[in-house]
Amino acid sequence: MSAEWWREAIVYQVYPRSFADADGDGQGDLRGLISRLDHLSGLGVDAVWLSPFYPSPLADGGYDVADYRDVDPRYGTLADFDRLVAEAGARGIRVIVDIVPNHCSVEHPWFREALRGVGRDRFIFRDRPNGWQSKFGGPAWTQVEDGQWYLHLFDASQPDWNWRHPEVVAMFEDVLRFWLDRGVTGFRIDVANMLFKQDGLPEVELPPGTPLIPADAAVPYENQPELLELYRSWRAILDGYPGARMSVAEIWYGNAEVARPYLTGDGLAQLFNFRLMPAPWSAARFREVIEESHRLAVETGGSIPWVLGNHDVPRMVTRYGIDQDLVRDPTAEVLLGQVEVDVVLGTRRARAAALLLLALPGSAYIYQGDELGLPEHLTIPAGERQDPMFERTARTFIGRDGCRVPLPWSGQATPYGFADVPVRPWLPQPEEWGRLSVAAQQAADGSTLELYRRAIAERRRHPALGDGDLTWLEHGPEVLAFRREPGFTLVVNFGAEPVPFTGTVLLASGPLDGGLLPCDTAVWLA
Ligand code: NOJ
Repeated sequence: MSAEWWREAIVYQVYPRSFADADGDGQGDLRGLISRLDHLSGLGVDAVWLSPFYPSPLADGGYDVADYRDVDPRYGTLADFDRLVAEAGARGIRVIVDIVPNHCSVEHPWFREALRGVGRDRFIFRDRPNGWQSKFGGPAWTQVEDGQWYLHLFDASQPDWNWRHPEVVAMFEDVLRFWLDRGVTGFRIDVANMLFKQDGLPEVELPPGTPLIPADAAVPYENQPELLELYRSWRAILDGYPGARMSVAEIWYGNAEVARPYLTGDGLAQLFNFRLMPAPWSAARFREVIEESHRLAVETGGSIPWVLGNHDVPRMVTRYGIDQDLVRDPTAEVLLGQVEVDVVLGTRRARAAALLLLALPGSAYIYQGDELGLPEHLTIPAGERQDPMFERTARTFIGRDGCRVPLPWSGQATPYGFADVPVRPWLPQPEEWGRLSVAAQQAADGSTLELYRRAIAERRRHPALGDGDLTWLEHGPEVLAFRREPGFTLVVNFGAEPVPFTGTVLLASGPLDGGLLPCDTAVWLA
């Protein structure tokens, strides 16, 4: 692996609240994660990225940070964190943490001071709100007791920082150093394209009939030029530490050109590529996204961190098991609770997608539970849903709880080994998850867990995989196929009919039919 290890790394995303619960309170914690590190080394990942574990009222699952330099007591202590870094490091696994610089929590001491009238200019307070809308639905402004309003582009519990205030800039530099000193290898930067707001906070037209602004709309609170300078300065901090530290930015875009300034900006190591997530299961659409993204990566000298799942989107198995016209349409989320899901079909496609993901040039991010083929939990009772999006959109968006359900490790009943004691997890687990648990899939021939393990092992072994180039092969409109040198071919059949292939099979996402590749199946060939 090169010095820029992230260019081809496999990074596993841990959502700490739902990974493993050592103290039996129904919420995951750092000691739980430490106790399950062998699962990650068994998978063969290079790094873990931890979603926030900082002190937080958990109004947005921890993306509402009350203290950037500590561990929430529900998740453990700083000593536990240090042990995590050491124990992961002993297994060759790096630790990336989440930094949330656009907003904090209303519980952050500086915001509490601001409410008392001290240091309000660290946030964005105005006498009158403008018409900006929250990304979670509803107005982006909340009024405080003395009549002023503060800006929050997400939940009202998440006030936006004023990035034109030098104390805010300095505070975040300290936070970066705090975690770098503790041995983290880098940062995943939350909503990295927001932070700076255009002077004067000009109005934005909301498209009629939708509660949310569509992606790629040029809005005065996204992609402002000051960000490039900020990320250059963060890069300088990272580069001041030994051992190739990095950052990966969360930026959603539809048009690849939105990414170009960041990729040429000499600041961020990587920008997540989310573009396959809203893509329907279609060879043509997948190829279009991969071609465009790869071209941009080659032009900018970057590498692509591919993502097929995370804690913000419906699970792959469910996405690929619904009417594919709904995947492209943002209202799919609305309908998800109502549409029919073919889990068998979705699982077949998700397994094929995993082989595609791991064969693409660049790095791959795997969201916890995708290696088990978990589906979205669609029947969480309304009263138990926790995502603020659900209420803020008057329950029209079902929200993101369904992909955040605690993992099944073993056994046939909840909590499925998530905790060792019979506790009720913070989100309910579905009834049929026993067959999907890690224990049930371990060493089970043909299980999704085994498929991931074998694919990651093969990827590490094969000189063609990881960073590099690809050459498209023409196989008809329903087939996606490319070659990577030396001597590797991927073929994915998106169509309804089996297709012929030639070569020696290294790995297949499902049973093959002699020399034919069945529909919704991928194969790796030598
Ligand atoms: C993106 C995070 O991934 C998401 O979970 C969170 O709600 C928003 N940013 C706000 O921090």
